[in-house]
Amino acid sequence: MNAPLRTPNDPSSNSLILPLIAKRWEPRGGQRDEKAGDKGYELIDSGHGRKLERYGKIIVDRPEPQALWDMSLPPKEWECAHARFTNSGDEEQDAGKWKINRDVPDSWAVEWQNIRMMCRLMSFRHMGLFPEQQTHWQWVNDQIHAAGRPLNILNLFAYTGAASLSAAASDAGVQVTHVDASKKAIQWAKENQEASGLTHCPIRWICDDAKAFVARELRRGRTYDGIILDPPKFGRGPNGERWQIEEDLPQFLRDCAALLSDRPSFMILTAYAMRLSSISLGAALRDVTKNLGGECQSGELLIAQKNGDRFLSTSLFARWRATA
Ligand SMILES: C[S@@+](CC[C@H](N)C(=O)[O-])C[C@H]1O[C@@H](n2cnc3c(N)ncnc32)[C@H](O)[C@@H]1O
Repeated sequence: MNAPLRTPNDPSSNSLILPLIAKRWEPRGGQRDEKAGDKGYELIDSGHGRKLERYGKIIVDRPEPQALWDMSLPPKEWECAHARFTNSGDEEQDAGKWKINRDVPDSWAVEWQNIRMMCRLMSFRHMGLFPEQQTHWQWVNDQIHAAGRPLNILNLFAYTGAASLSAAASDAGVQVTHVDASKKAIQWAKENQEASGLTHCPIRWICDDAKAFVARELRRGRTYDGIILDPPKFGRGPNGERWQIEEDLPQFLRDCAALLSDRPSFMILTAYAMRLSSISLGAALRDVTKNLGGECQSGELLIAQKNGDRFLSTSLFARWRATA
């Protein structure tokens, strides 16, 4: 007789594969301020290898290799974009340039719940904010509230600080350690803390190589109740230390799991532009958390398009949380 088919969604495996869809952004205070315009994010349209998005008051048109379908809006709607990014050739590369069609300030605010992120047109087509990650910010906040005690959280490859700020703001007593190799990114994250009115929230800002920092914390016997990781595919520490996700992730996940406290709450990992599947990512995380019980999920982070019924897949994720 054939053995029953086991799927990753088998409840006995304590793992779940799922798409996570970023909800429509609620502006600060839950109220739409018509006069000031909406300060949230939305994916307005996509198609023909591009996406049309609104970051607060600024509309941008950027390359999107996943948008294999037709646009749903007519060209005149796309022409309303303040800025259009054109690749230098290879659609997989971030290099290229912005063509500005309408006035764009040096920086402007985009809000999610009680955080305010300052956005800028960056030379590598980003704006300093990955809006699909809002489902993770919400999930981390849910774990903080479920724990019912002040958690000590480590945010690695923490960039401009959205995850650090939303966690720090979610509950008094939460301690966040924010680690990034780039002084500029940390400066930007501090600017976002100030813009969000969250300077009273305890955040430890650390400019360091993520691997070196984790190794040092292990030697010091430090522990964390929750760990957030958003590693790039390739990166460099402040002293040129090399980060290559496919090579470094397995051992790095083991080291991060070893940093968890004896009452751990969660671990969450996002990965962009990788050859791995979310199933591999989930299995790697399950492996390092197998002695902790709890449950693992893995899948894709999606953004729901405002027009039509499209979902744009942005990245893979795996996350573990304690259930007891
Ligand atoms: C932009 S975020 C990740 C966003 C998204 N996951 C992506 O891949 O586009 C990556 C952050 O990791 C930081 N970073 C790169 N290499 C690092 C390293 N070795 N140690 C610590 N931070 C690093 C960068 O400075 C950057 O702020």
